[in-house]
Amino acid sequence: MAEDKKTSNQMWGGRFASGPDAIMEEINASIGFDKKLYAQDIEGSIAHATMLAKQGIIKDEDLEQIVAGLNTIRDEIESGKFEFSRKLEDIHMNVEARLRDMIGAAAGRLHTARSRNDQVAVDFRLWVKQELQKTEKALTTLISAFLDRAEEHAATVMPGFTHLQTAQPVTFGHHCMAYVEMFGRDRLRVRHAIEHLDESPLGAAALAGTPYPIDRHMTAEALGFREPTRNSIDTVSDRDFALEFLSLAAICATHLSRLAEEIVIWSTPQFGFIRLSDAFSTGSSIMPQKKNPDAAELVRAKTGRINGALIALLTVMKGLPLAYSKDMQEDKEQVFDAAANIELAIAAMTGMVRDLTVNEDNMRKAAGSGYSTATDLADWLVRELGLPFRDAHHVTGAAVAAAEKKGTDLAGLSLEELKAIHDGITDDIYNVLTVDASVASRKSFGGTAPDQVRSQIAYWRDRI
Ligand code: ARG
Repeated sequence: MAEDKKTSNQMWGGRFASGPDAIMEEINASIGFDKKLYAQDIEGSIAHATMLAKQGIIKDEDLEQIVAGLNTIRDEIESGKFEFSRKLEDIHMNVEARLRDMIGAAAGRLHTARSRNDQVAVDFRLWVKQELQKTEKALTTLISAFLDRAEEHAATVMPGFTHLQTAQPVTFGHHCMAYVEMFGRDRLRVRHAIEHLDESPLGAAALAGTPYPIDRHMTAEALGFREPTRNSIDTVSDRDFALEFLSLAAICATHLSRLAEEIVIWSTPQFGFIRLSDAFSTGSSIMPQKKNPDAAELVRAKTGRINGALIALLTVMKGLPLAYSKDMQEDKEQVFDAAANIELAIAAMTGMVRDLTVNEDNMRKAAGSGYSTATDLADWLVRELGLPFRDAHHVTGAAVAAAEKKGTDLAGLSLEELKAIHDGITDDIYNVLTVDASVASRKSFGGTAPDQVRSQIAYWRDRI
């Protein structure tokens, strides 16, 4: 005996001193995380049992006991009284074993015409569907926060950037509306994902269907799915719904991260475009002057684990032969983690967008610097003097050089100085060299003119 123990210690070591059983239990069990699916598991079982009774596959007395037992188990889990066992592997076996303790033989009839393969697919689809519905709501709230800020700042000028170099003046409202478009597309992706997953796997059984006279349309309807899936092999091998959730979450996280990055930059003293509320920033333990945009930084960082979850599950799925393989048990933790974090990131970003203070003076000052109205000068030369755009570009370049030499912006050049560059230039030029004139002139559909921004806001208010 003592000898045996020693041998197994040498073989397995550490926490697996008790040998293969312990290792198998640890690698095989999913109850540690799939207990999250308890409500869906019970809902699916009640729908299944109800259908079995209606079809005469089990007796009504059995159904009554099964439903009462499952409802009690739900209460036990929700009140923290339920004892989960790792020996029973997963949520499905934990619930069924407890049901057997409670009602005896009838519990064994619940698993007629069903397998854990279609059971886990139904549980997980229901869970992901619910999560998608939450994500849709959260995105709608974020979008409306942006619409409010955009309306407030439809005419607030700021520099627009390309290459993070001052390009042309835009309005802060217009910039906000760019994010509305991005999160609007995310919301559409969520809706499409709900549409794609809205088929019930229940009744596919292990992989081939079942000889029992089940009614898959009935269970699909009871569980709120549009219709049953159409191929039993695909049904138990498919995790597209999880992959779609992760990919839309990854794209959304990428949008949140770009916004987070802008918030980090804008809130530096060097930019000074915005001030974050105390609720979403922290002080430094050593430098009293600092206010750090921690929430934005963490939103930016969450992208890492969410993108990672997508790659992890794609990699799990890529070599799997049809139909079910145990590899697929690795789907859940990725989705649970990504779901919790995308939800948190959207909530934090909504708070930041609502609370941030805009420093209009700093934005305006920055909007006018860096010769941001150079394109307006070139456009004036084209429009008023009929110059080809390339020539106008050349003349404007000379004007920028002159202004640089003089140490002013373009409006700081005298008419004489401008005429020396091109003698067709008149006084009228000063009407287009201001940032307000510049943004007001960009009235093309989807452009930055305040009226355009307001009409895009109205469009989106209507849409959400
Ligand atoms: N815990 C398993 C999972 O998450 C349930 C399905 C098990 N099916 C099987 N044939 N062993 O994938």
